[in-house]
Amino acid sequence: MSNIIWTPQPRQAVFMERPEYEALYGGAAGGGKSDAIIIEALRQVHIPHYKALILRKTFSQLNELIDKSLKYYPAAYPEATYNATAHTWTFPSGAKIIFGAMQHTKDRVKYQGQAYDFIAFDELTHFSYDEYSYLFSRNRPNGPGTRCYIRATANPGGVGHGWVKERFITAAPPMTPISEEVSWRTPDGKEEKRLQQRIFVPSSVFDNPALLNNDPMYVQRLASLPEAERKALLYGDWDSFSGQVFTEWRNDSAHYFDRKNTHVISPFAIPKEWRVWRALDWGYSRPFSVGWYAVDHDRRLYRIRELYGCTGAPNVGVKWEPSVVAREIKRIEGEDINLRGRQIFGVADPAIWGSDGTESIASLMERERVYFDKGDHARIDGKMQVHHRLAFDENGVPMLYVFNTCKHFIRTVPNLVYDSKNPEDIDSDGEDHIYDELRYVCMENPISPTPKREAEIKPYDPLSTEPQYGRYDWYRSF
Ligand SMILES: Nc1ncnc2c1ncn2[C@@H]1O[C@H](COP(=O)(O)OP(=O)(O)OP(=O)(O)O)[C@@H](O)[C@H]1O
Ligand SMILES: [Mg+2]
Repeated sequence: MSNIIWTPQPRQAVFMERPEYEALYGGAAGGGKSDAIIIEALRQVHIPHYKALILRKTFSQLNELIDKSLKYYPAAYPEATYNATAHTWTFPSGAKIIFGAMQHTKDRVKYQGQAYDFIAFDELTHFSYDEYSYLFSRNRPNGPGTRCYIRATANPGGVGHGWVKERFITAAPPMTPISEEVSWRTPDGKEEKRLQQRIFVPSSVFDNPALLNNDPMYVQRLASLPEAERKALLYGDWDSFSGQVFTEWRNDSAHYFDRKNTHVISPFAIPKEWRVWRALDWGYSRPFSVGWYAVDHDRRLYRIRELYGCTGAPNVGVKWEPSVVAREIKRIEGEDINLRGRQIFGVADPAIWGSDGTESIASLMERERVYFDKGDHARIDGKMQVHHRLAFDENGVPMLYVFNTCKHFIRTVPNLVYDSKNPEDIDSDGEDHIYDELRYVCMENPISPTPKREAEIKPYDPLSTEPQYGRYDWYRSF
């Protein structure tokens, strides 16, 4: 009788052999992700001081992983014991594998002062970047001879979709090591630098013959899901996922100049008579966001410039004082050829007028001669305004365009997801600061939903000087 308990399938073997410090496995449903990390955690259990931590977002979600461990661990280590209260396995050597949850970011204090050689996140897109990166500080050995590393699995979707996509999926093609320079200063003042590596190892149900044999209907069930979920879960398409709020969003570089069926377009010179808005969502330890928008004669909005106070780490603010932000606004408005010399109407998060006895943020900005009116904070109305504006008319023209120079808008707004507790609103644990300032501008310029009409059947002539589809006045590109 064979005593082999589990053999990695070829894709799992590729993942489990990777030498990089961080590796993300999956990107689609059923690729054998959870099995792979449950088994990976066993790799060093012969070392007495080895400690592993396997995380899911909530304790109830952990049950699936704990069930897997109950199936595999006693078969491999009959003397291993499981303490259900502490969610901890103890192996004959003394090594431990601990299951944990981090439902709220503040739960990370539970792990303060702890050290884990191996840390695994199952369903990483359910976590924020703060939660993920905090655990790097807990990834250190409890004694000599262990390897310290981080592994994760994910499907597209969830509040962390944006940062996970950026960190692992779009940073490099799959199976390509991504290097990030990490530097620090030693107590004697020397600058040290190292490269830290990570990698994305893709897998899908087609890499899991065990599942395909046990349940040949599973692929069919994935194939019958609604379009966005099908593309995400069956094929690992990170551009479409369930829970995405602005599914209307299109970024098609083939149409940056003809502006058809795309929200992102190439910049152009804004006519002098168009009104220009400046919107602010305040942030200090979270990013602040300033967006400049021009309004054309059809009330169409163009996001023409942005200033986003992010350190480069997702959703981490640069901690600029209000006066510094105001001076940077002034500088941009003095230099940008679409802003220079114009009257600009400011609208901001009403919270900046709040004061706890000290001078308000709005007042500190006024000292620098940067003025705002209070934005309308009605969240659901604001969200509907954004939907109305993103809708394309019969000619493929929306009511909101974004210049392709507005990188942070393009990075964050399409990745916003619904709040699981309030399915009408977005999950504000996501990177929603740009969306918030967009709402304030939309609420200052409300529109009705675009009525869908039959498309006029006539050729589009780019050289014509006549308005071709209603009143669109297109202007010279830079
Ligand atoms: N190497 C293997 N040998 C045998 N069975 C396996 C292996 N890997 C995975 N499986 C089985 O395939 C099924 C799906 O695996 P798993 O739960 O790990 O997938 P997943 O990618 O985490 O799925 P999901 O996307 O739903 O989270 C499970 O029944 C699991 O036990
Ligand atoms: Mg899983």
